[in-house]
Amino acid sequence: MKHIFKKGTNEQMPTLLLLHGTGGTETDLLPLAELISPQSSVLSVRGNVLENGMPRFFRRLAEGVFDIEDLKERTKELHDFLDSSADEYGFDRNNIIAVGYSNGANIAASILFHYANSLKGAILHHPMVPLRGMELPDLNEVPVFISAGTNDPICPRSESEELKELLEGAGASVQVHWENYGHQLTRSEVDAAAVWLAGKK
Ligand code: MLT
Repeated sequence: MKHIFKKGTNEQMPTLLLLHGTGGTETDLLPLAELISPQSSVLSVRGNVLENGMPRFFRRLAEGVFDIEDLKERTKELHDFLDSSADEYGFDRNNIIAVGYSNGANIAASILFHYANSLKGAILHHPMVPLRGMELPDLNEVPVFISAGTNDPICPRSESEELKELLEGAGASVQVHWENYGHQLTRSEVDAAAVWLAGKK
């Protein structure tokens, strides 16, 4: 997968896996890493799917309607990519925190839905429920931060609430942060994510 890896200054800190939104690239979220955990190594990945020229992490059939088969395949592809990247760059495979926005948050949530130990934790900005009707793995105490907009037309409030319930049902420890805005990623939700992560150490 096309990506950027930046080695951090403190190997004890989690490696941040940055996952952009629809139409983004691997450079988009680099400023977030600086705000959330400046000493961390960063693996920022570009989605392999193109929708009218816009990179995504999996196909969708319409706005908010996901191609579930493709989502499953792409989830495995990204999970496997984390394995090979950890080997290649020498970071701790067991200490990865995903930071995803929108479509990137959705594939991060899908990794949590499919794999018990792939992510140490996740920061999900404006996520949706990636898929329904599956049994989640044991996510005992996996810390998850969700931020969402009360007026987000793409990711309605109910999606964040359901995602929280599903993750908590699998044992994850979920905090939800609300912004009175829409789908845009705000500085204050990124700051809240940084405070949340600092409290996990
Ligand atoms: C998605 O397709 O993953 C979500 O609807 C959000 C988006 O990326 O537009």
